[in-house]
Amino acid sequence: MNSGRSFLQVFGIPPTVTAAAPGRVNLLGDHTDYNGGFVLPSVIPQETVVEAALGTGVHQVYSATLGRLLQFGEGGELAEFGRYVGGCVRVLENRGVAVPPLRLRIASQVPVGAGLSSSAALEVATLRALADLLGIVLEAEEIALLAHCAETEFAGVSCGIMDQMACSLGEAGRMLYLDTSTLERKLLPLPAGAEVLVVHSGIPRSLVTSAYNERRAECEAAAAMLGVESLRAVEELGMLKVLPSPLRERARHVVTENARVLAALEAAAPEFGTLMSQSHASLRDDYAVSLPALDALVAALQHSNDVFGARLTGAGFGGCCVALVAEGTAAATGNRITKTHLEFSTSVVVPSTLSDARLQPTLFACDKLVVGPVQLVQTVVILSSHHKAFDILFLHYGFKFVNGTAGEPTAHGSGKLA
Ligand code: GLA
Repeated sequence: MNSGRSFLQVFGIPPTVTAAAPGRVNLLGDHTDYNGGFVLPSVIPQETVVEAALGTGVHQVYSATLGRLLQFGEGGELAEFGRYVGGCVRVLENRGVAVPPLRLRIASQVPVGAGLSSSAALEVATLRALADLLGIVLEAEEIALLAHCAETEFAGVSCGIMDQMACSLGEAGRMLYLDTSTLERKLLPLPAGAEVLVVHSGIPRSLVTSAYNERRAECEAAAAMLGVESLRAVEELGMLKVLPSPLRERARHVVTENARVLAALEAAAPEFGTLMSQSHASLRDDYAVSLPALDALVAALQHSNDVFGARLTGAGFGGCCVALVAEGTAAATGNRITKTHLEFSTSVVVPSTLSDARLQPTLFACDKLVVGPVQLVQTVVILSSHHKAFDILFLHYGFKFVNGTAGEPTAHGSGKLA
């Protein structure tokens, strides 16, 4: 997936900085963030890594995931993954930051179109890299807000703030309770004795932008008819009686989902699971963002031993389902479900099936030694764990002719150095 060329191979120079951000999985509280409500996401082990250095001329961005190089200049049209990265550049410029020509390399292990916020992970990783490269201090909340602007103003999705806050402030193994009206938040442990299982339904999300915008408009219409600023202000279900269908059902989902998030803060694993399963029913019946195949996968999870509860996660219309399961059972349950659920090619995303998805190769240092006509390039590649500890696991020796022709590595060494 990330077998593309290295930064050095693409740009002829080593990166100056490297930054990463994880994808997120939402445990409870979907379609509440743009209604000023409550959410409860966590992060996944898979990360997006952005390496950066200054260049000349136009900005150049290489996606190792797609094996493609894009470039964009000042004020020019942004396309594909350039919209997220270019959006981050533009929001910084709009705030008065002078951004010189950049060289960027992206490598991501966050599945795209799976409801796991690959775009927010890319935006947050890009802003972290740019802050480091340009020497700007940006707090985690500010990064999330800038990333959100990049998404809404340049990538064209009128989303809420949950994803960017989760990718910027989330921590492994914890859940981020967030009040999207005030941005008040708390990192909490998962319910005791439980762990998270994320299964991709194998159905890429489709129609999600148009359906998402339609749901958002329905919520705004419902709030306007009720005379409130947002559906967050509605605490009594009785108030919804005056609304015509389907606005009543949409609003009911938002009101009950907010209550479920608040109830989950104090819940032990079995009650937490029940709230997740109720959330799925509400997303399916009231909010109408599920699909029969997602319902079938959720039902299979809900009927498995050791599963406290399960639901679709994220915007819906495909992508992943999340389950809360007894500690130590996620891998076995995930593997069993993906074998029995053969209609689509389901796959386990968390716990990770990659050798170790938490580890991202990162160029740490590059020493050069000129020996005759050949330049010896010694690169120390470090693998960073998401616990923010660093292990040096891999030494890479390469060479390059002094006249500029890059050569393939002549030797690889490996060993744990620290
Ligand atoms: C997408 C959006 C989020 C949120 C979820 C649904 O992920 O980006 O802001 O609205 O859908 O909860």
